[in-house]
Amino acid sequence: MAVERTLSIIKPDATERNLTGSIIAKLEEAGLRVVAQKRVRWTKEQAEKFYEVHKERPFYGELVAFMTSGPIVVQVLEGENAVLKNREVMGATDPAKADAGTIRKEFAENIERNSVHGSDSLDNAAAEIALNFDEHEIVG
Ligand code: RTP
Ligand code: MG
Repeated sequence: MAVERTLSIIKPDATERNLTGSIIAKLEEAGLRVVAQKRVRWTKEQAEKFYEVHKERPFYGELVAFMTSGPIVVQVLEGENAVLKNREVMGATDPAKADAGTIRKEFAENIERNSVHGSDSLDNAAAEIALNFDEHEIVG
């Protein structure tokens, strides 16, 4: 096993319902450490760039609108196998399919307003972290 870093985002549906602390508690209980964190509001351009891989998907426009609709909390999480561990504690994209005890099962509203984002590979984690943080903002 190796210590990894992954990018996590607490999405607008969760900040709106004041769930930031409850979600961070779940991440920490899973053994992930928050080594960088900021609350921001993305511009349309930032959201479009972040989700560029989904450009051709039918939900792209709606996703960009949702992710710019309110504040988000962008985080770098660190820990053993952090990428996979975060995906496990997040649960399935669709909360109806998420396992009991996961963040999305407990907090998500639906497949789009699903409370959290987590990088899906080590390569994407590095790219997403670089897009959102300067190296000096990450304190491990
Ligand atoms: P994420 O990237 O946010 O961690 O989520 P994910 O890997 O589980 O899901 P992905 O397929 O990458 O989709 C990115 C985000 O787009 C929204 N979505 N909406 N309306 C829809 O059918 C639909 N499908 C996906 C979700 O917010 C999803 O997390
Ligand atoms: Mg994804």
